[in-house]
Amino acid sequence: MIPLSVPNLGGNEWKYIKDCLDTNWVSSVGSYVDRFEKSLAEFTGAKHAVATVNGTAALHISLLLAGVGQGDLVIAPNITFIASINSITYCGANPVLIDIDERTWQMDLNLLEEFLKKETSIRSKKCFHEKSGRRISAIMPVHVLGNMCDMSRLMTLAKKYFLAIVEDATEALGSSYKQKHAGTFGLFGSLSFNGNKILTTGGGGMILTNNSSLAKKAKHLTTQAKADAFEYYHDESGFNYRLVNVLAAMGCAQMEQLPDFLKKKYEIKNLYSKNFSSIKEISEQQVEKNVTANNWLYTIHVPDKKKFLDYLNQNGFQSRPFWVPMNQLPMFKKEIYYQQENISAKIYNHCASIPCSTNLKKSGQLQVINAVKKFFS
Ligand SMILES: Cc1ncc(COP(=O)(O)O)c(C=O)c1O
Repeated sequence: MIPLSVPNLGGNEWKYIKDCLDTNWVSSVGSYVDRFEKSLAEFTGAKHAVATVNGTAALHISLLLAGVGQGDLVIAPNITFIASINSITYCGANPVLIDIDERTWQMDLNLLEEFLKKETSIRSKKCFHEKSGRRISAIMPVHVLGNMCDMSRLMTLAKKYFLAIVEDATEALGSSYKQKHAGTFGLFGSLSFNGNKILTTGGGGMILTNNSSLAKKAKHLTTQAKADAFEYYHDESGFNYRLVNVLAAMGCAQMEQLPDFLKKKYEIKNLYSKNFSSIKEISEQQVEKNVTANNWLYTIHVPDKKKFLDYLNQNGFQSRPFWVPMNQLPMFKKEIYYQQENISAKIYNHCASIPCSTNLKKSGQLQVINAVKKFFS
């Protein structure tokens, strides 16, 4: 079986993890946590990076610190991984789901603008949803599959409607818009180092922010809000959300290989694109002109997703469907879903991701290509 997207652990992972074991620094403090945070801040250009147990925790803390509270609404795309929307509900808020763009598969900014114009009003520099009377406190652009939307336009809208931007950049390490790294546009950005991501710590995440006092608060909240170095004095209800040193050690080793991983993803994407360009049944996610995507998970639009996935999986090529749109899940069926042509359903019904691990050799890539060609022949 050629797997979909698996860890590539060919660097100093053993060495750095062994160092943690040899020195007994395996838990929530240690030099690798600081080093990992510093390297992510440097790579992304964010002023601060705060490591967390996973990307979901990073999103949860970011939303709380962005001021999202009980009863609020938060705008998000209708196609994303469930964790984006779960993090909104953890704050006692509800999502406003916006349909996606048919070309880029990111939040449709025309629909977003229309929704804000038609369905909201501003009072005392706060945005309210007219019909429900509820406050819309934030917007969460999700950089789906490492692609990005027109961030200039999104930021203009967010500013006009007083919405805090909390970016879900969990899939977008290495992606940028006008040379600015994903996750550094909003008040906060979140990264994930889950096993299927470009860079992995097994499980892990990172909060990015340019705001020093919010970075301090993020560290505080993720470490049980302990307010005294010696006494167990906690000044609010915090969370045990810190990444442990042994996993950060793995992250440091992975960071050393990140440029190679990104290059590999780019090469795989290019080879697939070149070979599939003559297959009229296949179309790809489009990338806006100012976006450099990290090509995280190669996903294509095909006429019969089920048949395509069955064929590939039965022949040893692990392939997956796209996420079920949020409005189709039982717990989010009643949330506001702003759409015109329900593009989410179309994309979900036709999209499939195929093997593209960074350790997939050229011979493996050619095997994938041949299988896809055979399916469509
Ligand atoms: C879009 C999106 N949001 C959030 C997450 C959550 O990250 P994690 O699995 O690290 O909690 C993921 C990845 O798993 C994701 O793909």
